[in-house]
Amino acid sequence: MSNRFAGKVALVVGGAHADESVSLGFAGLSALEIARAGGKVVIADIDDEAGERSVAKMRDNGLAARYVHLDVTSEPDWRSAVESTTSEHGRLDIMIMAAGINDRGNPIETTDVKDWQRVMDVTNLGMFLGVKSVVGAMRESGGGSIVLISSMMAHIVRDGSSAYATSRAGMTHFARSAAVQHGPDNIRVNTVLPGWALTPFTTDAFDDEMMARFARRVPLGRVADASDIVGSILFLASDESTYVTGSELLVDGGVTAWIGPTD
Ligand SMILES: NC(=O)c1ccc[n+]([C@@H]2O[C@H](COP(=O)([O-])OP(=O)(O)OC[C@H]3O[C@@H](n4cnc5c(N)ncnc54)[C@H](O)[C@@H]3O)[C@@H](O)[C@H]2O)c1
Repeated sequence: MSNRFAGKVALVVGGAHADESVSLGFAGLSALEIARAGGKVVIADIDDEAGERSVAKMRDNGLAARYVHLDVTSEPDWRSAVESTTSEHGRLDIMIMAAGINDRGNPIETTDVKDWQRVMDVTNLGMFLGVKSVVGAMRESGGGSIVLISSMMAHIVRDGSSAYATSRAGMTHFARSAAVQHGPDNIRVNTVLPGWALTPFTTDAFDDEMMARFARRVPLGRVADASDIVGSILFLASDESTYVTGSELLVDGGVTAWIGPTD
């Protein structure tokens, strides 16, 4: 087991799915790997049942993990998650923000305002409140790394899902803005842009026919799972990327590089 994250404290938001015997999301697996590599982890989510179950399992395995309830659209929730992290561990080095919801693929004409707004709130208000809430504690810790989990949909679009795609494009530019403002604090801000992956976010939506169709559109020939994405998240969270900020990391199996089949 490496000590890559020894001495680091990570707030992992949207990380409730961290129990490999049940299901793993991008942030859940990131939390597990940070704790396995010596870090102290606070998992935050609205799925309290999954979050508590994941943390109980991690603690049973001797890992330093705790769960807090956090709705990313609530500033008081962010404040109390950060306060409880710093009061227990004395510092905050890493924040991974992966909370997300889909907009059901509706076309623009039939998208309700409240559905559009909800996607924007969870993704864009969430990332803003997250950065706003953690930078003070990170500055006091001598710096930090913020990793926003976006999507390849920040670069390409499908028919429908315009709220989701627009909110993800917004993450790229917000990360640049936050990186510029907080570079002098030694706080780095980057985005990871996954492609199609089988996780709790997609298990209900992706049937076998869909998975096969997506796989044909991926140069690497398959849909990902959380293990394909986690390395990129951990790279940006860790001290291996000390000169990377305001940057996007596409982890999409080559989808956005390819115009698609031409025959
Ligand atoms: N799975 C994919 O194919 C895929 C591809 C590209 C991007 N993404 C994005 O990756 C991120 C992580 O998803 P995942 O695939 O790892 O699945 P996941 O279900 O493990 O992660 C999403 C988490 O966000 C939490 N969440 C939702 N609303 C929240 C809120 N208001 N406050 C706090 N937490 C909230 C959910 O409870 C869930 O635990 C999402 O933002 C998703 O849009 C997923």
